[in-house]
Amino acid sequence: MMSGQQYEGKVALVTGASSGIGRTTALALAASGMHVFLACRSGVKAQPVLDEINNADSCKIKAEFLPLDLGDLDSVRHCATVFLDRNLPLHLLVANAGLAGQKGMTDSGFELAFGTCHVGHFLLTQLLLATLKQSAPSRIVVVSSQAHKQAKGIDFNAVRNPTVSSVGLKEYAVAKLANVLFASELSRRLEGTGVTTYSLHPGVVASDVWRSIPWPLDRLMKFFMLNTDKGAQTTLYCATSIETEKQSGLYYDGSTLASASSIAQDKALAAKLWKESEQWVS
Ligand SMILES: NC(=O)c1ccc[n+]([C@@H]2O[C@H](COP(=O)([O-])OP(=O)(O)OC[C@H]3O[C@@H](n4cnc5c(N)ncnc54)[C@H](OP(=O)(O)O)[C@@H]3O)[C@@H](O)[C@H]2O)c1
Repeated sequence: MMSGQQYEGKVALVTGASSGIGRTTALALAASGMHVFLACRSGVKAQPVLDEINNADSCKIKAEFLPLDLGDLDSVRHCATVFLDRNLPLHLLVANAGLAGQKGMTDSGFELAFGTCHVGHFLLTQLLLATLKQSAPSRIVVVSSQAHKQAKGIDFNAVRNPTVSSVGLKEYAVAKLANVLFASELSRRLEGTGVTTYSLHPGVVASDVWRSIPWPLDRLMKFFMLNTDKGAQTTLYCATSIETEKQSGLYYDGSTLASASSIAQDKALAAKLWKESEQWVS
């Protein structure tokens, strides 16, 4: 799909690129010639990925670190400012970072999965949108999950409170529903700008996202899962393929168009989520 220096001169920003699907995505984008920003909360964890990319071509820096904690909206603003201060174009934003099976609240006062997966990415996207528009054609890829199909809707009060379910998977489903709704609403708002949006299920992937599952269950589960190379394929398909170039606002699974749940296609809910999100980050 991607070869050699096909994307020389293009700039991408990948959140959560320190491990798993985000790491593989960043490696593949850099290998295709893109200048890739790894927006991660830990510089120490991102360093091996930066080294892997930059040591492959010592003549040129092709990957850079941006500090980003999606749970802290001040950190999101700082991340965007550091990037925008470079006066670079932005052709691809991959909203990949996320967590599952963890409980609590973000520093900015949202349920942990919702605040991380949706609210942080909502603000980051808003702050980078003008640059994405100026750089068009450009793409915004939001890594959701088929788990969004478990969500029956969004309780706008619950997302302002700590996780209540026993392992947080109910809240994870709501966060991933918000990812799909956000990408589709964004596409409607970006019509005619040359900025296209995508949401996707990457497959069930043996990554650190399962870090809260105890041993030996984690080992057993991972035996049946995709490796992260395969797990990044649908993200890369949405990010770079010619077939998806003219599509926008749709949902993908297995590098092909798929049906999101009926609730995820509810335009009124998507518009309400947008309005609430604007207020939350203002
Ligand atoms: N693996 C699967 O089977 C699967 C299935 C469906 C969807 N997904 C989605 O795929 C995406 C990538 O997950 P993965 O499987 O690759 O898991 P992963 O290896 O755990 O990667 C998640 C990344 O997100 C980062 N992250 C977590 N909280 C963050 C925060 N507050 N601020 C900034 N970065 C944060 C992590 O950083 P740290 O390392 O610092 O925590 C890590 O780099 C997620 O959105 C996940 O929901 C995964």
